[in-house]
Amino acid sequence: MQPRASVIGLGHVGLSAATCFAHKGTHVIGLDKDQVKLDTVRKGKLPFYEQELGPMLQECLKNGTIEFTSDYKDAVEDTNLTFVCVSTPSINEQNEVDLSYVKEVLKSILAAAESKEEYHLIVLQSTVPPGTTDTILEPLISQNSKKRLGKDIGLCVSPEFLREGRAVEDTRHPDRLIIGSYNELDANTLVDFYKKIYRDDLPPLLLTNSVNAEMIKYANNAFLATKISFINSIANLCERLRGADVNIVARGIGFDKRIGEQFLNAGLGFGGSCLPKDLRGIISVSYKLGYDNDLLGTIYKVNELRADRVIELIKSFVQELKGKRIAVLGLAFKPNTDDIREAVSLRIISKLRKEDASVVVYDPEAMENAKSVLGKDDDVKYARNSLEAIKDADCAIIVTEWDEFKKITPEIFNREMREPILIDGRRIYDPSVYSKSLKFTAIGLGT
Ligand code: UGA
Repeated sequence: MQPRASVIGLGHVGLSAATCFAHKGTHVIGLDKDQVKLDTVRKGKLPFYEQELGPMLQECLKNGTIEFTSDYKDAVEDTNLTFVCVSTPSINEQNEVDLSYVKEVLKSILAAAESKEEYHLIVLQSTVPPGTTDTILEPLISQNSKKRLGKDIGLCVSPEFLREGRAVEDTRHPDRLIIGSYNELDANTLVDFYKKIYRDDLPPLLLTNSVNAEMIKYANNAFLATKISFINSIANLCERLRGADVNIVARGIGFDKRIGEQFLNAGLGFGGSCLPKDLRGIISVSYKLGYDNDLLGTIYKVNELRADRVIELIKSFVQELKGKRIAVLGLAFKPNTDDIREAVSLRIISKLRKEDASVVVYDPEAMENAKSVLGKDDDVKYARNSLEAIKDADCAIIVTEWDEFKKITPEIFNREMREPILIDGRRIYDPSVYSKSLKFTAIGLGT
């Protein structure tokens, strides 16, 4: 029989997992305490931008394989497993991770499972610092439930690796599945569940303990961040070398199978709700364990300096930014999302405003989110499209590599802008074409 699953927390991870599991035929109950979110998803709409997920959700609602609730009894009593997908934000100066949502959810699951006779498995997908399950969550279960851990109630760590904007593809076809649990019953229950979900498409499965599973998630994101900061440091070097181009260098090293071609796009660095937060998290964990992780600290610092590099590049054309009209094309932390959390655009805008520049912004999806952060400040103007953004601008910066920006030709920049200076922060334009008629520069491009 197909197991029934519930998913707690309907953010990117939770809603994608819930929908993909339901699409594979498992009956899924999604739970969130946010009523507005519940109303939205019940109508088959998404609370965030994620291509492909909407139609899949509508299909599942139509087939009746997915339902939504805010009641833990509904989510636990009638299901075999519960996936916990709530967020674990950074909280303080030390960048400790806030486990309060995870703890609150665990207690609610335990209360709802108390009267249940059958075994129930809790699967932790939220990102938590290594050691959390052993030292905090297992004791929490023992203290808050009469059930025997590993017999009546189970707990596994199974981190997710999906990317925003590619959530459906990544959830349906993960590179691997990680299961962290010492307990055979817990691990086997989750292995069986994944086998039923992925059938012939089952990816490599790594069974380990919970601390390794937690560490794998942190190390994975830290490694991705390392690749990005590494190539950006090479970009900084290329910019100082006549004829050098970081894109060619990245291609050349990417052919080496030991390095690989992915995540070597030089640009304005990494943002979003995961890479910066998890990097701070692992640095903080290292520090607490008595290890000053210089390498990861530097990777973080290289990323922090990307916004300054943009300002330096503009200043290589104009000395004074005061009164200049600067068009910022792209606000989302990457294309195909409306997410602006820790987006480099925000840091660039803040620096431009400090220099008294007049800033016009445009993003195909993130305008509403941007308005809620940047506000109705007179110094920031919101354009309705990219042409309106660049109209009469002295300089335009490509901050996010949306496809529609790739279609803006040098002729259009020349026609619309006052002083056509173009800074390609994401390497979307061919320098040999764009530098012919524009004052053009790009990240990682030598003089
Ligand atoms: C990241 C990881 O890629 C996922 O595997 C992980 O599951 C997720 O965090 C998480 O922990 O939940 P995501 O934050 O959606 O996913 O975004 P990425 O696609 O990793 O991009 C992160 C940032 O790096 C973006 O700002 C992007 O523009 C930048 N980036 C990426 C580069 O500057 N260069 C690259 O070559 C690749």
